[in-house]
Amino acid sequence: MKPFFITTAIDYTNAPPHIGHAYEKILADVLARFQRLRGREVFFLTGVDQHGQKVQQSAEREGIAPQEFADRVSESFLSLWKTLGISYDAWAATTDPLHKADVQSILTDLKERDWLYKATYSGHYSVRQEQFLTDKERGPDGEFGPEWGEVVLLDEENWYFRLSKCSEWLLGFLDSHPGFVTPDFRQTELRNAASKITGDLCISRPKIRLAWGIELPFDPGFVTYVWFDALINYISFAGHGGSEQAAFERRWPCDHHVIGKDILIPAHGVYWPCMLHAMGFSDEQMPHLLVHGFWSLRGEKVSKSTGNVVDPTALVASYGTTALRYYLMRDAVMGRDADFSEERLLLRHNTELGNSLGNLVNRTLSMTRRYREGSPKQASLSEDLLAHRVADLESMRSFIVQMEAAQIHAAIETMIDLVNRANALVDTSAPWKLAKDPEQAARLDAVLTTLILSARAAATLVLPIVPEAAAEILRQIGLEALPLIGEIGVGELPEGYCCGEPTPVFPRLELQGAGEGGAGAAA
Ligand code: MSP
Repeated sequence: MKPFFITTAIDYTNAPPHIGHAYEKILADVLARFQRLRGREVFFLTGVDQHGQKVQQSAEREGIAPQEFADRVSESFLSLWKTLGISYDAWAATTDPLHKADVQSILTDLKERDWLYKATYSGHYSVRQEQFLTDKERGPDGEFGPEWGEVVLLDEENWYFRLSKCSEWLLGFLDSHPGFVTPDFRQTELRNAASKITGDLCISRPKIRLAWGIELPFDPGFVTYVWFDALINYISFAGHGGSEQAAFERRWPCDHHVIGKDILIPAHGVYWPCMLHAMGFSDEQMPHLLVHGFWSLRGEKVSKSTGNVVDPTALVASYGTTALRYYLMRDAVMGRDADFSEERLLLRHNTELGNSLGNLVNRTLSMTRRYREGSPKQASLSEDLLAHRVADLESMRSFIVQMEAAQIHAAIETMIDLVNRANALVDTSAPWKLAKDPEQAARLDAVLTTLILSARAAATLVLPIVPEAAAEILRQIGLEALPLIGEIGVGELPEGYCCGEPTPVFPRLELQGAGEGGAGAAA
């Protein structure tokens, strides 16, 4: 079977990671871990976008070389991904020589097949911002505002990719492949944008203006436009064009490019499929785009320049990885925007993980130890317990369907339903009463066994979302995760089973005011 191949956007290395970066990587990690539980081979690629003007400018401000600057910021991403348990298989850093070689060979091939040409562009150019301006940058008065500084008319030679030659193909492809983008409404947006494509894509920058990039192999006075370079990471780091071409062919196409809504149009929805099409990839070899929404803070865009930031590193330091991973996956409906709130992070952790899941594990194991020294006996199941197990099985099936559709928030709700049902069984079956009545001994064994199996099912389902905590629960229960492969079941207790000692897995968290900056927050 083809490996499950998942990527994230590669993050700009001009500033340290923020909550949006963390959210995206956790999202991809959850889907990757889920597929591993399903028994699939997984290839999970993430990384950093190290070239471009932003990095060059930030490095200049600090008076250091761009590579040194990019390496330093890349370290802060690597260190956060380690803390957050991001289980990637390959790291894409675009200054890697293998990537550069692939970009250059793709450019050479495209030029040889007349997909690239050189032309002169004349237009308004902002000297301060070092970029050409279009009418979109004009203010309501029709003028370019003061933020652009001196604006001059400039003629500049550059290399262009024949994007316009692909526009008809792209429209046909989108119409015949309605599942190219998830969610659907994003595909509709993309279809509208694609119908307005005019002109070609400038894929070079003259070195005199921007030196920090991959040199064009056929014209050394130019470097490659950063998006043309960055998008190729999805294939170059999967083995394309190098000694791992066979592995690449097994992996490709990508099951999900996980990206934020801001980089769907035009980069991933227009440039990328057109680039692949020009390279010779067939319609069936196009990847799938999974587009997530944006996190805001107090309804405002998170932005370093306004100080409206949420720092994932500070949040982890205060509340731990489990609480942060759970909250981000739980509170954002896939594809929709969400507003960050530390109070909600605590609420989700303390109620759903602590009071519901943690409590279920704690009660179940304590009672099993107290009444049965950790080892309930085999007992036949009454109708209510049989129905309970069938309901658990149904929850597991729904969870799988929801996760396959990347509806993580819905899958978490399904897991919580399972937990709530098990807690309700504790209340209705009242094992503490059964324990006092010798006639009810078999019923007590059956109830405790059913609860242990429910707790294991819950820990299995939550494993991709909060892997450390779930592994600890399974350790306390004394069972492995249920395999989510093939014909699934709720399992049985093995011969000689004895549960472990319960200790709280989700200690109650108190508000610390961590990680948030901006208006109204402590500096
Ligand atoms: N370097 C490009 C991507 C190249 S992919 C070939 C880039 N980098 S970025 O650092 O600006 O953004 C990285 C990812 O983080 C993008 O998918 C972006 O949508 C996502 N997010 C940035 N801010 C975000 C939020 N506030 N909320 C959620 N995700 C956000 O774009």
